[in-house]
Amino acid sequence: MNTRAIDTYDVVGIGFGPSNLSLAISLEEHHANVLTNPVTSAFFERQPQFGWHRNMLLPSATMQISFLKDLVTFRNPVSRFSFVSFLHAQGRLAQFVNRKDFFPTRQEFHQYLEWAESGMTNVVTYNSAVTAIRRPPPDDASSACQVQIEVRDTADGSLRRVNAHNVVISTGLQPRMPDGVVRDERVWHSSEFLAQYRLADPAQLKSVAVVGAGQSAAEITKFLHAQLPHAQVHAVFPSYGYSIADDTPFANQVFDAEAVDDYYYGNEPTREAFWRYHRNTNYGVVDDADIRALYQIAYDEDVCGTKRLHFHNQTKVASVVRDGPGARVLLRRLDGAQRELGVDAIVFATGYATMDPTSLLGDLDRYCLRDASGRHRVTRGYRLVTTPELPCGIYLQGGTEHTHGLTSSLLSNIAVRSGEIADAVIKERTERHLAAAGSAVLQSADKSA
Ligand code: FDA
Ligand code: NAP
Repeated sequence: MNTRAIDTYDVVGIGFGPSNLSLAISLEEHHANVLTNPVTSAFFERQPQFGWHRNMLLPSATMQISFLKDLVTFRNPVSRFSFVSFLHAQGRLAQFVNRKDFFPTRQEFHQYLEWAESGMTNVVTYNSAVTAIRRPPPDDASSACQVQIEVRDTADGSLRRVNAHNVVISTGLQPRMPDGVVRDERVWHSSEFLAQYRLADPAQLKSVAVVGAGQSAAEITKFLHAQLPHAQVHAVFPSYGYSIADDTPFANQVFDAEAVDDYYYGNEPTREAFWRYHRNTNYGVVDDADIRALYQIAYDEDVCGTKRLHFHNQTKVASVVRDGPGARVLLRRLDGAQRELGVDAIVFATGYATMDPTSLLGDLDRYCLRDASGRHRVTRGYRLVTTPELPCGIYLQGGTEHTHGLTSSLLSNIAVRSGEIADAVIKERTERHLAAAGSAVLQSADKSA
């Protein structure tokens, strides 16, 4: 095992998607204001380079939030890392404004994220998968207020360890497949879509299926229909039809920073009402324009008698069996009727599970308190509630739907959330340094007495 010397940081971030990129910027902006004694930080990302859901960067897919909900603006409207600054740097500000549209394409937003990341490369290490967080070994001189983070180099397999006073876990959503369905080179989850599609020979894809009725499913169905003009495209979903994503102004308020307080300090009935009334702002729903586009395609095919986009509504996939280069898919309608479909590829756009830090925490999880439903208890400041034996700060960016509401897995609130976490880390660091300075003064007073 190749181990290097142990560095110690005020904060270590696990994952470098938009959430921890925003945190890195927030810390950097703090440093620019105070100039001395910067908070020391390191971020570890398992990908070889920055990438934000690259396998879903479909041509002309648009963002689902306003460009103003970028990495910084809601926390610091004058930040140099805003989407507006990016547009200015690209010489595209006027052209963007002429569009009169709040929603950039995901391609352009990805370019923005890469541009922001290029100013933060000094704090991030790629090809670095965090495999465990644990206490420093007993013989380690590090204080009881630190945790040790184990990082595996995904290129050469070597391990390194670093210590931290605070950890911010932001490892993102987990792809979700139906029970019993196994992914392979012809059975895909939407999170791997473009990578798998590029490996396949389009001429061989004569019959394809897409499962689900969320935004991913709608975008992939549209894409496959456009890219494979020779293919039959089957959309399979449990609802009667695609439902619209509610982004009207009153509903949109659930993504405001204030809504986090309303959710966090609400009681069980108010929290439950958030989900019951407003789940349709995000989950299992599709943008109006995409719904209309899919309907128009099907209608035009009806008119021309050239049907190749097929909707199997009120239907779930009961099983998938690989058969030569393709697969046999058993479709089961909600009324029990069954039919078999032969496909050359099938895409499960069946959503994601929320981030769960349990496996990374390993043995440390026993110091993390849980609520009556077995979910982690989290402070309003996104810190895991721990027993006194674990005094280090372990913060979550994601995985807090049960405590902080709908924005937990989204971009809407990351500028504010990461600013709050940065403030907490800075405060902890200041108190720690003051305490150390105080005890040094006492020791020297003892010596001179
Ligand atoms: P994100 O998943 O982006 O990043 C987590 C990072 O952690 C990844 O880079 C991963 O490689 C890394 N990682 C994981 N485990 C690791 C480990 N053990 N060690 C090191 N690194 C590790 N939301 C929204 O508000 N508006 C939108 O338009 C969209 N659009 C959208 C499109 C698609 C296709 C999806 C699937 C989701 C969205 N979302 C969204 C929601 C999405 O969760 C959100 O945009 C961000 O990706 C959240 O950023 P995070 O940094 O929290 O997670
Ligand atoms: P999602 O919204 O959770 O939708 C999953 C869909 O799969 C739902 O229709 C669900 O039906 C269905 N499903 C789940 N299990 C199933 C099964 N066993 N059989 C058949 N259908 C099943 O997931 P998503 O579409 O991937 O979206 C996830 C997040 O990414 C959202 O925040 C979304 O806004 C975002 N996103 C954004 C963009 C963009 O910015 N352009 C693109 C794609 C995704 P039920 O609802 O009945 O369970």
